[in-house]
Amino acid sequence: MIDTTKNITYENIVNHEIFEKYKEYCTRGKGLDKLLRENGTGRFCGNDPTQVLLVIKELLGVKCKKVLEIGVLHGGSMILLQNSDYKSDFVGLDCFTYYGLNKDPHSNVIVSKENAEKNIKKFNKKGHTFTLIECNSQSKEIEKKLIEEYNNFDLIFIDGDHSFEGCQKDFTLAVKLSHPGTIIVFDNFSCLGSIVKKNDLNVKKAVMEHPSLNLFRQVGKFGKKGKEDLFVIEKI
Ligand SMILES: C[S@@+](CC[C@H](N)C(=O)[O-])C[C@H]1O[C@@H](n2cnc3c(N)ncnc32)[C@H](O)[C@@H]1O
Repeated sequence: MIDTTKNITYENIVNHEIFEKYKEYCTRGKGLDKLLRENGTGRFCGNDPTQVLLVIKELLGVKCKKVLEIGVLHGGSMILLQNSDYKSDFVGLDCFTYYGLNKDPHSNVIVSKENAEKNIKKFNKKGHTFTLIECNSQSKEIEKKLIEEYNNFDLIFIDGDHSFEGCQKDFTLAVKLSHPGTIIVFDNFSCLGSIVKKNDLNVKKAVMEHPSLNLFRQVGKFGKKGKEDLFVIEKI
């Protein structure tokens, strides 16, 4: 039995019962991805080991009151996190134009706030509260709004603009909205290549060269060796 009062560590994450239990739920083409695709309302852009997000939420327990997601798309990762019994208030940011396209080329579904909202409402069985904000996460307006109206997030998932500059800006925003103990999770960490444009994925470089990285403790990387999808850090 894992002691949930322990720190968020690599071992506590991979040895948590939810890690195995939710693996299939997060596998592309199965679980949540299948559910979203079969309902014709999108897809889940997660992948084994995206279940790490839910494990972290469970390990944070009642301390996890506020969750921020940058890059909501069709709502998949927010739905995953809302499987948690520990109720949280979620804020999701997305420009809802899949990298300049109005249709998500991987599901052929039009990307919109309404669609994401519909999906999240449908699967949110545990009564979490959530707000989706259509915006560019890198704008000064959204920074001001988040600082004034929300701030102090306990868990932040960064899965928006994966370019070097965009990811650095999202990290800078996350630093401003965090407190000691806040967990930040970066998606597509070790992937190189493109989402839409060639060489658009530059998350690792953006994070490792960010001047605020030294304010954080590195929890670990999750995924296939050398191609880890997720990178998790905790504010000291
Ligand atoms: C990889 S998808 C997110 C997948 C999602 N987390 C899931 O669970 O399926 C990235 C999303 O980030 C959004 N995005 C990219 N750049 C952005 C920006 N600067 N501001 C807000 N959203 C952005 C895209 O529109 C897209 O919907």
